[in-house]
Amino acid sequence: MFSSFLRFIGIVGFIINALHKANSCDLPAKGNPYFPNNFSFGIATSAYQIEGGWDADGKGPSIWDDFTHNYSHLIDKNSTGDISADSYHHFDQDLAALKELKVNHYRFSISWPRIFPNGDISSRNQKGIDYYNKIIDKLLKNGIQPMVTMFHFDLPVDIQKIGGFMSDKFIEKFVAYATELFENFGDRVKIWMTFNEPQIFCKSSYADGRYPPLAGISGEGDYICVTNTLKAHAAVYKVYRSRFYEKQKGKISIALGNYFFLPKSNETEAAYRALQFNIGFLAHPIFHTSGGFPKVMIEDIKSNSLKEGRLTSRLPSLKGYWKNLIKGSADFFALNYYTSRMMQRAVQPKGLNPSWERDMDCDESLDPSWLKATSGTWLYCVPEGLEGMLKFLRDEYGDLEVMITENGWSDVGELDDVSRIRYLKSHLQAVLNGISSGSNITAYTYWSLIDNFEWRSGYSIKYGLYSVDFQSSNRERTPKKSANFYREVISSKKIPNEIHV
Ligand code: BGC
Repeated sequence: MFSSFLRFIGIVGFIINALHKANSCDLPAKGNPYFPNNFSFGIATSAYQIEGGWDADGKGPSIWDDFTHNYSHLIDKNSTGDISADSYHHFDQDLAALKELKVNHYRFSISWPRIFPNGDISSRNQKGIDYYNKIIDKLLKNGIQPMVTMFHFDLPVDIQKIGGFMSDKFIEKFVAYATELFENFGDRVKIWMTFNEPQIFCKSSYADGRYPPLAGISGEGDYICVTNTLKAHAAVYKVYRSRFYEKQKGKISIALGNYFFLPKSNETEAAYRALQFNIGFLAHPIFHTSGGFPKVMIEDIKSNSLKEGRLTSRLPSLKGYWKNLIKGSADFFALNYYTSRMMQRAVQPKGLNPSWERDMDCDESLDPSWLKATSGTWLYCVPEGLEGMLKFLRDEYGDLEVMITENGWSDVGELDDVSRIRYLKSHLQAVLNGISSGSNITAYTYWSLIDNFEWRSGYSIKYGLYSVDFQSSNRERTPKKSANFYREVISSKKIPNEIHV
């Protein structure tokens, strides 16, 4: 596996060099220009980012409500998601956009504190359940398949009070919540994701203190969080399989990813190591035939922990019951991909001591040819990274069904969003290239349907195919050029040569 990864990395290096002179956000086509007939095109959002209605109809507070209300100075322009795009009151406008695009699926997340206001089953809120029933029914009535994420960062405050992801209790609470979702929506929802991007929220919430609850337990809290997330995910998978699957026949996964890593010059081992420390951290226990955390993480974190004078590893051990329960606990790979970094082994120890960065022990850099998004600091257009990720998944985890569950480009909100079209074009090409190379990719999901609350960046960064008038009381949506482009892709099942917008 590693050797075929190395061969591929050599080819990617060659492609990158060839593209180096241009400011590249393009990808050469390989093979069939058409997406398969049954390929599903969709678009994504998440509850806290679009819904607003933060305390409507009995909803309880999430840690993001608490954070934006009490630490507003940490958010661009002191913004909150209290109203945001107000999808809670204007879902019909979202539906109109979905219909206009003619998407096959819509990925949205359910707000746990809308269903159980204090996180616990005893607080069950029928109005919250009614809201999602309405959404699901309207989608299905219009031929749009719901793809549902159970958790997209908005943890009920009371679950945080009992320790959040640090506590074993979390597993039991999450299973009760997921069971409620299967009972109420499972007759109609056939694609589920338990969690969105645990490696991002675990690090941001429990290590570097960027997201609530601002717990700076670096190199330990983040690892406990990932471990408990994997356990909760697998426990939910077990409940679904034993109690619901026979009748409901749905599929379950967990959305992983965000970055791919390429080698800086010939540092192939560093790129592979970074992939294991990021995607492999959660994917290896679920999708690899041997299960458990990646070997390189187990060995190096233990060795670092002992050097720090500890008696045991900071990485919790995954053995016996849990290792077996987690192994195989997904029906497809839900991949989020945005961008890439070049990696080399660290010249000197980096990051906090201890930390995920220090354990990973790599320095990251950028290729100067990569096109940078005009907003934010981290997003560069690297479509070959998506191809690389798909190849990595094939090599590491074998013949899997892959659904791309997020991929998106940000700007400052212009309607004439040609850079977004360019990003979309090249990443759709990467999907086609992946299919030609043998990946079983069945879905692509653009992030995001509408401009929305971009976490600590507030409303300064926009990802939507539709702009939202945040000044108007009904938050009118207006299509950008990229909406027309995506609609054309969906109707023709190919990437248009000319952009007719
Ligand atoms: C997250 C979204 C976020 C997007 C852009 C993704 O990783 O799932 O919530 O808006 O990145 O930053």
